[in-house]
Amino acid sequence: MSAKEPLIIFDTTLRDGEQSPGASMTRDEKVRIAKALEKLRVDVIEAGFPIASPGDFDAVKAVAEAVKDSIVCGLARALDKDIDRAGEALRNANAGRIHTFIATSPIHMEKKLRMSPDQVVEQAVHAVRRARQYTDDVEFSPEDAGRSEIDFLCRVLEAVIDAGARTLNIPDTVGYAVPHQFGNLIAQLRERIPNADKAVFSVHCHNDLGLAVANSLAAVRNGARQVECTINGLGERAGNAALEEIAMTVRVRQDLFECDTRLDTTQIVNCSRLVSGITGFPVQPNKAIVGANAFAHESGIHQDGVLKHRETYEIMRAQDVGWSHNRMVLGKHSGRNAFRVRLQELGVNFDSEEEVNAAFSRFKDLADKKHEIFDEDLQALVTDAILDAANERVKLVSLRVCSETGETPLATIVLALDGEERSGSATGGGPVDATFRAIESIVDSGTTLKLYSVNAITSGTDAQGEVTVRLEKAGHIVNGAGADTDIVIASAKSYINAVNKILQPRERAHPQTGDV
Ligand code: KIV
Ligand code: ZN
Repeated sequence: MSAKEPLIIFDTTLRDGEQSPGASMTRDEKVRIAKALEKLRVDVIEAGFPIASPGDFDAVKAVAEAVKDSIVCGLARALDKDIDRAGEALRNANAGRIHTFIATSPIHMEKKLRMSPDQVVEQAVHAVRRARQYTDDVEFSPEDAGRSEIDFLCRVLEAVIDAGARTLNIPDTVGYAVPHQFGNLIAQLRERIPNADKAVFSVHCHNDLGLAVANSLAAVRNGARQVECTINGLGERAGNAALEEIAMTVRVRQDLFECDTRLDTTQIVNCSRLVSGITGFPVQPNKAIVGANAFAHESGIHQDGVLKHRETYEIMRAQDVGWSHNRMVLGKHSGRNAFRVRLQELGVNFDSEEEVNAAFSRFKDLADKKHEIFDEDLQALVTDAILDAANERVKLVSLRVCSETGETPLATIVLALDGEERSGSATGGGPVDATFRAIESIVDSGTTLKLYSVNAITSGTDAQGEVTVRLEKAGHIVNGAGADTDIVIASAKSYINAVNKILQPRERAHPQTGDV
């Protein structure tokens, strides 16, 4: 890392990322992601919104207990009950931060909060003081700052700094800002607020106009020293600023930035795969940094150039963001130790010998079907093993599908439903359709299929197919994921994973709209 000023990376994948419909994560999944973020050397991990539900509280508490090297943060509206709950969830953290917020735009104050500007200032100050009773590390956000009046922002922010806020986060909540204007807003705030030097300026940009990363970087050029972002740009609506794009832009363009992050960027691809696998949100192939094609040189001219001198067409090295050089990592004859060591390098640590054994036996099965096993295969396999080990009500026992030219496909499936084996059969327009109908003939989930997508995890016809299924029931959306060398089996796994999520609905409030 260079000796430049630090740029603090505040990752909100586990909080704002989780607000993306269908992206909800269990406590254990959050801990796994948090550990990977810690390995990436993220400075702050926003682990959730503790007052939202007992499950959210437990998840923040578990992350706070598991993470040692990053600050763990909990979100709280500017309300005593939210702040107390966040303080309690973070009690065992090595370093804990409370992030409290209240809206400051005219439209939010008038229509949502039904509060006067004076009341908003008073409540913001009160909230920061209360949060300071739990920790010195308090962050304040004027929600919808992107549409707030600058004079009012200056007034609120000056008051919360006096009350003890150490980070001022300026959110473009609805993704309305454009780069030159947003950069100018940060410059103005830093100039006009008399005690601005007592706090770190942060930004939190949404991607509704596709400008979240550009806006964040314009803010950094104007003195922001913390960026809030998510892995793969996951988040509400069009998402948040993508961590990997912010980090690599700043790193690659050190000629333009006076700061740098302390990230170990070689962990980026791991984190991306982990988040995608757990949430069931696939990464588009042409996504910057972490997309499968991000470093693929298709055209002959480019390939020729890269072979002669890499920098003719490459501005960064694939291995610097974690794409492995020698991608064939393990094979049929690899032993348990090589398997465990490679997974540790990928940031996966097993909790028990049983977990290692379960994953290793899956690895052996896969190695029988697939000649070369890549990192991507290993990660999919571990995600599958952990899903299976989790307390799921529905499990796949066996599947038989007949598909023949001119005949209607027929699927016969055996599921364990609450431990009891049940079988069902159905025909369908294709083998996947028949399989989903066969599952429904047993579970009768009452859901609607909203999305079905298949991605080959690696290249070659023996590649594993990674299937994502999105189901909806009465407005509750879930994503399921599953991988297998047989895409019909991968589809069944993915559908069953989604059904398991729908069978455990979690009552939780949304921080920005929900009543608690
Ligand atoms: O987008 C937003 O305004 C938020 C705040 C809670 C910071 O997520
Ligand atoms: Zn947000």
